[in-house]
Amino acid sequence: MDYQTLFRIDGRVVVVIGAGSGIGEAAAFGLAAHGGRVVCADANLAAAQRVADQITGARAFVVDVSQSDSVNALFQSVQAEYGKLDVVVTTPGINVRKPIVAYQDDEFERVISVNLKGTFNVLRAAGRLMAEQKSGSIIAFSSIRSLTVEPGQGVYAATKSGIVQLVRALAAELGPQGVRVNAVAPGVVETPLTSPIKSRPDWYNAYAEKNVLRRWAAAEEMIGPVVFLASDAASYVTGTVLFADGGWTAADGRFEPPL
Ligand SMILES: NC(=O)c1ccc[n+]([C@@H]2O[C@H](COP(=O)([O-])OP(=O)(O)OC[C@H]3O[C@@H](n4cnc5c(N)ncnc54)[C@H](O)[C@@H]3O)[C@@H](O)[C@H]2O)c1
Repeated sequence: MDYQTLFRIDGRVVVVIGAGSGIGEAAAFGLAAHGGRVVCADANLAAAQRVADQITGARAFVVDVSQSDSVNALFQSVQAEYGKLDVVVTTPGINVRKPIVAYQDDEFERVISVNLKGTFNVLRAAGRLMAEQKSGSIIAFSSIRSLTVEPGQGVYAATKSGIVQLVRALAAELGPQGVRVNAVAPGVVETPLTSPIKSRPDWYNAYAEKNVLRRWAAAEEMIGPVVFLASDAASYVTGTVLFADGGWTAADGRFEPPL
């Protein structure tokens, strides 16, 4: 075994959905730096193009994960242009923070259709191609909210748990064909998604204090988990959730007993 190349993905075709911002953007740069031929896809084509322009050979595509036709068209284009699909990372997620009793139907449907149905659409389309090809690695984005909640996070949390079960099911279904499916579950990461929290120091600092590293993550700190799961370093890793949460879910944080 060549230990030096364990995390390399040279020549592999990598589709990053959500590549226009935050964790997806960082993942696109990190996967390209490890040798991937990166396709940057996002609902915001200009944002995907901005990232693709900074990566040699990368292409930008528009996709709306909540629409199965749009997702299927993306993968058909990739298949037609590249002839294979080795790695898919899907990050799009939105949140409407509200108590369940105040939630409106359209808000519920919006969060479900991007986070849960969107991830489902990607898992299904990528899974079909990879099953036929008999190889591939799919990485979805869950959250600490798949395990633990706070007021106002009910619907978002439900989607993040649902994503874990979809990932486990697809891993079970496609394992025999050599396709791996995993999730990354971040803690608090500084991105445009969480920028409203940054403008509230009490809220921002409370989240920093909640995890055992006592700080937020940078988006670039999600690159390692993604590259690991994409690469042959994770060749025996499937159906799992990699928590990159600074220890958020390890300690309950209510009280520090005197030691
Ligand atoms: N930032 C955090 O603290 C944090 C914590 C836990 C989990 N997560 C999860 O990580 C993932 C990425 O989060 P982020 O902070 O990078 O978010 P972000 O808002 O910075 O980026 C999301 C990207 O997805 C795109 N997008 C939104 N809706 C889309 C759609 N329908 N189709 C295609 N693209 C769409 C956006 O244009 C944007 O470029 C999300 O699933 C989020 O739930 C984030």
